[in-house]
Amino acid sequence: MNHTEITNQHTSFIIQKTATFVKQTLQNAESGHDWWHILRVWNNAKQIAQTEEVDLLVVELAALLHDIADSKFHNGDEEIGSKTAGDFLKSIEVDAEVIGHVQQIIRNMSFKSSFGEATFSSEEMKVVQDADRLDAIGAIGIARAFTYGGFKNREMYNPEIEPNFNLTKEAYKNSTAPTINHFYEKLLLLKDRMNTKTAPKIASQRHQFMELYLEQFAAEWNGIK
Ligand code: ADP
Ligand code: NI
Repeated sequence: MNHTEITNQHTSFIIQKTATFVKQTLQNAESGHDWWHILRVWNNAKQIAQTEEVDLLVVELAALLHDIADSKFHNGDEEIGSKTAGDFLKSIEVDAEVIGHVQQIIRNMSFKSSFGEATFSSEEMKVVQDADRLDAIGAIGIARAFTYGGFKNREMYNPEIEPNFNLTKEAYKNSTAPTINHFYEKLLLLKDRMNTKTAPKIASQRHQFMELYLEQFAAEWNGIK
């Protein structure tokens, strides 16, 4: 085997080990952030990466590990995800530089972080962020939103509660608004926040589907036949 072959074999070993770890860790996760979400984001990321100049190992590891531990379920500890990911990657002897980059992506990627000043960005992070955002819109995005709303015991819709377009980080985290509002507060904004070449095309189709869905929802709500 030449050097490149050995490197490729090592890379796929690392990715396989990581996938197995993530699948196992997320066994009892709620369905918005379960293994199937990770698998979809991983696939999206690989597709988007084809038209970007990025380190594919960093992209794949960050996609796999981006929701490994959610601060929402760890008393708001926002470092828990990057720490869990870092500990695991160290245990399988991944390059320190790669680990550091993956941890930065996990720390900075979530929608919540985008309320603050962006402290870190990289081409690899842009790919994974787009991949994650694509899974929040379209048919799957709709399903995830109502699943999350149900989990939080929220109303699906309440015409008396207007969407809040200027949510602060705290208000976003603590919101008890109906799920339909989440479309106006977040999901419909995502198509214009894509960073890469490929994601906007996929986002645009998924966005149209959500708009159609909301029209139908309103029509049925108002009793229009
Ligand atoms: P992220 O971890 O990507 O920053 P969240 O954990 O907030 O995002 O959201 C995970 C999933 O739950 C997404 O599909 C998102 O749209 C959905 N979700 C988050 N907040 C709400 C909400 N207030 N109402 C309905 N769905 C939500
Ligand atoms: Ni995610």
